Amino acid sequence: MEPSETADHYDQIARWWQGNVPPTYGLAALERALRFAKKEGASLDVGCGSEGRFMKVQRAHGFAPEGLDVSPAMVELARERDPEAVFYTADVSTWEVPRKYVFISAWDSTFHLPLDLQEPVLRKLCAALGPAGVILFTCGGGEAGEIKGSFQGQDFEYSTLGVEAFVRILDECGCFCRHLEYDQYPEGHVVIIGARKAN
Ligand SMILES: C[S@@+](CC[C@H](N)C(=O)[O-])C[C@H]1O[C@@H](n2cnc3c(N)ncnc32)[C@H](O)[C@@H]1O
Repeated sequence: MEPSETADHYDQIARWWQGNVPPTYGLAALERALRFAKKEGASLDVGCGSEGRFMKVQRAHGFAPEGLDVSPAMVELARERDPEAVFYTADVSTWEVPRKYVFISAWDSTFHLPLDLQEPVLRKLCAALGPAGVILFTCGGGEAGEIKGSFQGQDFEYSTLGVEAFVRILDECGCFCRHLEYDQYPEGHVVIIGARKAN
């Protein structure tokens, strides 16, 4: 599924998401990742959604968080909640990165990319990290490939390169893998934390 179609489906559930996503979902992993990061400068939440929960935590840790999402409805609602923040309504695969970030999160967002975009997007996000920058993202822990699913009556697609490939790409991009966890085992949902090596 192309990102524009993913956006159409998320537009339909943006309001639902704001009221119904479990508020603490993913936040323990976010706190863990933040422990590896310097606590000042710009941060980015890729696929920020409408709730603003990851950006809120990043701000509480001293960052100036920016949000990026391909769904216009998600961004509109997120902006209502956080009018001061910078938001980008864009597909991360074609978005032109405007600056370096000290911290980047992509919680349950890049796993919607078509398979052929997984590697270029991870490389792009690693390249967007400033010195000692930290990235947190989730991915599918199964074999490389694409799967279909449905959520709140909307069809979605997911893809993964497999954890070994994601770790290899981090290494090739000059990043350590600091943490890798099947956090919902036996579900194949994986959390990865990477950190840019000193230059
Ligand atoms: C499952 S929601 C997660 C939202 C948020 N990270 C959270 O945990 O509350 C996935 C989000 O990723 C966004 N997304 C999916 N594909 C994207 C892409 N190619 N570029 C930017 N955002 C994307 C969707 O629009 C949606 O808001």
